[in-house]
Amino acid sequence: MPEKHTIIEPFRIRSVEPIRQTTREQREHALRVAHYNPFQLRASDVLIDLLTDSGTGALSVHQWAAMMQSDESYAGARSFFAFEEAVRDITGFRHVLPTHQGRAAERILFTATCTRDNVVPNNTHFDTTRANIEDRGAMAVDLPCSEGRHPRASYPFKGNIDLAALDEILGGSVRVPLVMLTITNNSGGGQPVSMANIRATSEMCRRHGIPFFLDACRFAENAWFIKLREPGYEDKTPLEIAREMFSYADGCTMSAKKDGMANIGGFLAMNDEELARRCRNNLILTEGFVTYGGLAGYDLEAVAVGLREALDADYLRYRIRSIEYLAEKLDRIGVPIVKPPGGHALYIDAKEMLPHIPPLEYPAWSLGCALYVEGGIRAVEIGSVMFGLHPDGSEQPARQELLRLAFPRRVYTQSHVDYVAEVLADVSRRAGMIRGLRIVDQPSALRHFTAHLAPAHGTLYAD
Ligand code: F0G
Repeated sequence: MPEKHTIIEPFRIRSVEPIRQTTREQREHALRVAHYNPFQLRASDVLIDLLTDSGTGALSVHQWAAMMQSDESYAGARSFFAFEEAVRDITGFRHVLPTHQGRAAERILFTATCTRDNVVPNNTHFDTTRANIEDRGAMAVDLPCSEGRHPRASYPFKGNIDLAALDEILGGSVRVPLVMLTITNNSGGGQPVSMANIRATSEMCRRHGIPFFLDACRFAENAWFIKLREPGYEDKTPLEIAREMFSYADGCTMSAKKDGMANIGGFLAMNDEELARRCRNNLILTEGFVTYGGLAGYDLEAVAVGLREALDADYLRYRIRSIEYLAEKLDRIGVPIVKPPGGHALYIDAKEMLPHIPPLEYPAWSLGCALYVEGGIRAVEIGSVMFGLHPDGSEQPARQELLRLAFPRRVYTQSHVDYVAEVLADVSRRAGMIRGLRIVDQPSALRHFTAHLAPAHGTLYAD
């Protein structure tokens, strides 16, 4: 059936949430009040919210049913054991520590493993991962494969890590407490990592005696890409593929707000007992007791069910197809996108779309503002505002200037996606009129969340 007919949303809607239309004047005003920072907008002023796929998905009837029956005991709740069983069944890791979200798992892991001047390699660190490593005085190093550096070139596994560069670091004199691989590679365009690359990274880490962790936020989408694109996996189920991916690692950090299909939650999982003991102490200190880790029993239930739903083949087929569908439309109207399209998001190459805006006038950020003004769509910059400020206070352009349109899970329909394409066509027609921005006020780290910006040349659009 899927080959012959349109791939449709594999669910029907039984609870709806109104979204609000606004006028262009209202949006211009809202953006000014938000200091040209989409993170500072009120969500009620946004029509289609593609800021993130994190915690923004719709829950299924099965998740709600499990949540209604949760056990809210402080210690040893039944809901924890359902959660632990789901995580163990999929990942195979012995020790499962619940956390309120992914970055809490990262902080606990890096607190237990990293000291000053260590180096932690990754295909590409997500911003919170990088910040948590840098907070320990260590260095977060990105080693994307060479194919991943070319936004328009279509390769099946652009999320892979550069194995030669990794080998060089592991053979050097600097201490590497662990190696990470982010599946899918969010900051690198939502691109998948191949099973071969995961296996080779694992073998290299074993040879050097260094633990290997997955940042597993989007493990189910990565598994689906392996099924679609890697020879030998076409007949395997997403669950079988996921289990194999995890089997090569010593542990993982996870934001269950993505492929946990939950609104909140995460975990840290690992095999090493001594490391788990140290992490548990920190968990109790900062998150909560070891069987809830900052989550309500019903959150644990939502994740336990959600992790399995994320691996459903019909769901994954629809999920990946809906991003691809938008990519095809944008391609037709000439909007430059990172190819092939990612799993959870589509990335517009703002360097190419707005070549007249210099990197330190933030082309992708400016494009995000224009998209909001044009059609009430909110997206997120992955470029020089997010990555340009360094711990020593210096500023350098990021490698790429991308605008990410991240799709919440099971939330928007095909006509919402059509609308996004129409608005982008309008933005694209007026691209030459969009002007850059400057930063007026910023914190010393993770500046994109709270920075205040203003048009660098009077207005966002040239008259
Ligand atoms: N790792 C990756 C690859 C992520 O994408 C995120 C979050 C995290 C770790 C942190 O997880 O938010 O639960 O603390 N990404 C979101 C995003 C915020 O919009 O891409 P968290």
